[in-house]
Amino acid sequence: MLSSLENVMDKVVEVLEVSKSFEYVKEPYKSLKQSFVEFMRGTNVENRRFQVLQSITFSVSKGEILGIIGSNGAGKSTLLKVISGILYPDSGKIFIRGSVAPLIELGAGFHPEFTGLENIYLNSYVLGLTKKEVDDKLDWILSFSELRDFINWPLKCYSSGMQMRLGFSISAALEPDVFLIDESLAVGDARFVEKCIQRILELKRNGTAFLIASHDLENLKKVADKCILLEKGSITKEGPPDEVIQVYLGNSCHA
Ligand SMILES: Nc1ncnc2c1ncn2[C@@H]1O[C@H](COP(=O)(O)OP(=O)(O)O)[C@@H](O)[C@H]1O
Ligand SMILES: [Mg+2]
Repeated sequence: MLSSLENVMDKVVEVLEVSKSFEYVKEPYKSLKQSFVEFMRGTNVENRRFQVLQSITFSVSKGEILGIIGSNGAGKSTLLKVISGILYPDSGKIFIRGSVAPLIELGAGFHPEFTGLENIYLNSYVLGLTKKEVDDKLDWILSFSELRDFINWPLKCYSSGMQMRLGFSISAALEPDVFLIDESLAVGDARFVEKCIQRILELKRNGTAFLIASHDLENLKKVADKCILLEKGSITKEGPPDEVIQVYLGNSCHA
């Protein structure tokens, strides 16, 4: 009884039957007159819904790393956005126990006109930290990101790799309970990515759970405890990274 309760408490992310669709305007460039005439006739039902996630269920435990793999358009980013609360699901439930740091889109949560330093405070504030807490972590962020010399530059002058360094370093400094990473590491150079991986493993040892969407299958194999394969919005395979990656590569060869 106690062990099953501990099991439940260990689950820091629970995604239950989550579905998400987007609405598309089929003919975006219709004239106003045509739209009006169709509206009056009741024939303007040109929008279509497109199902992006279909009844997704999985969970991630404390200190566990989940790899999310799948082709472009499979729904990986949408899934992470729904979990982070950037998007709402149409149906289903998401339970998160603890703090979440999302590194989902480059530049998200940042302002291009502000300097790197201002953005550290802005972004940390958005993630729920007080000024004092950021002051305490600032030196770590500057050292880890290796951006000390560029920290007074406006963010719009940063390369995509520098933006990733900043975003990753802020989230990694927070030591969140749940860390969401969407492809962001792909823009980093090999040395920095290796440094991020070491930090990811360190946070994992301290109990942070990770959900990492990536096409870098070699690195996923190294760090992930389990993987899910998303195909057209559904989980088609779930299990040990080696097995899931093998199915993914087999499927993409036959596609
Ligand atoms: N905001 C949006 N509005 C409409 N369609 C979207 C939006 N975001 C994603 N999509 C569509 O959802 C599908 C899944 O996209 P995405 O989750 O980004 O896939 P992945 O990250 O696996 O490449 C794609 O067909 C994409 O065009
Ligand atoms: Mg994506």
